Amino acid sequence: MNKQTRQGQTKKPAPRSPGRKPHKTAARETCFYEAVAAEGLEFIARRELNARLGQLVTLHRTPESGGEPGVVHFRSTSSLYPLLHLKTVQAIYLIRRYAVPRPRALLGDEHFRALLGDIEQVRAVHPPGAFQTFFISAAGGESAVLKRLKSALAEATGLREGLEEGDLLLRLRRPPGNQTSWEVLIRLSPRPLATRSWRVCNREGALNAAVAHAMTLMTDPMPRDVFLNLGCGSGTLLIERLSAMPARRAIGCDSDPQALACARQNIEAAGCIDAAELYDWDMRRLPLPDASVDALCADLPFGHLVGSHEDNLILYPVVLAEAARVAKPGALFALITHEVRLMQRLLGDTHQWQKVTEQRIALGGLYPHIFVLARSGASIAPGRATIAYSPVR
Ligand SMILES: C[S@@+](CC[C@H](N)C(=O)[O-])C[C@H]1O[C@@H](n2cnc3c(N)ncnc32)[C@H](O)[C@@H]1O
Repeated sequence: MNKQTRQGQTKKPAPRSPGRKPHKTAARETCFYEAVAAEGLEFIARRELNARLGQLVTLHRTPESGGEPGVVHFRSTSSLYPLLHLKTVQAIYLIRRYAVPRPRALLGDEHFRALLGDIEQVRAVHPPGAFQTFFISAAGGESAVLKRLKSALAEATGLREGLEEGDLLLRLRRPPGNQTSWEVLIRLSPRPLATRSWRVCNREGALNAAVAHAMTLMTDPMPRDVFLNLGCGSGTLLIERLSAMPARRAIGCDSDPQALACARQNIEAAGCIDAAELYDWDMRRLPLPDASVDALCADLPFGHLVGSHEDNLILYPVVLAEAARVAKPGALFALITHEVRLMQRLLGDTHQWQKVTEQRIALGGLYPHIFVLARSGASIAPGRATIAYSPVR
């Protein structure tokens, strides 16, 4: 692909050997990317990028330093493959900046070849046929220039134009604060990364998988953990916990048999049915011994799709007390709820749990909080000396 300078301008492309595919593990020249995270969880996406890509990645501005909320910009010399395995981001885009005043110039030979080269790279890391359609998201989507660009892309790529979305998603925009350039962003995957292939059974109210993954990381997972997911629903937190790290036991419980059947289907599709245990337990009365669980996660009913506020006034204090009974001293409990004031009040009234962090996130038009709690009685369980994934303040 074309060399992209720090300013994102393009240099003349090096000649390509026909039919040569990028090597899976080979490092490449620097490219620029945008990772989209749930707003409030950018910090965890940044840490995952650092953890997975190490020196191959350089992160750009944080939301605290003026970066856009919900996005993480970075440049990297990594091949595209590791980026497709990121678990805490919703989607990743390859960015190329073109020093052109108007989108019409993208139809010029040099720029159009650069655009096709980027598309080819993205398609090359997926099986043949993974992309059938494309969609360009841009202001003025029906302008004559965009129509020309779409028909040129259809002809050059062999992809059909999707009506409302496409497997190959391109975004065309002006870089913030820059009136002399345009950027084309190409999503690296035919579906958002948060749309997991294991989800063969969906349920209303199922938790976003990237958010679920982030929550499991907030419990500082360890292979020796007895992990408990209260109200597991379709199994999202359980599957994401097991994909983050093996566990001695990974237990999910739900009082709804349909939820458990759905979780079983998803867990089978995720290939971790032997590692997970599902039970029809009531989370208010768990048949587990005192101080037997190392880490917990819960996506508690929060009164929009599941349960009601009145029910939660009774449910939440009982669940916090029962979770405290089964948790080992120092165990970490990551829970998400939209019942923010109720949870804050209950945590103010209990000595059983200490609040480690509270993070507001934006999710599908709602603003739930993720609370990370530590069971009182030990500073943090031995080996869990740091909360590696707590927000940087
Ligand atoms: C918000 S949903 C969890 C969704 C889940 N995270 C997912 O991704 O599908 C809350 C779950 O708690 C379960 N639940 C509610 N009250 C319960 C109780 N007393 N004991 C066990 N499960 C309960 C519900 O059946 C529901 O599946």
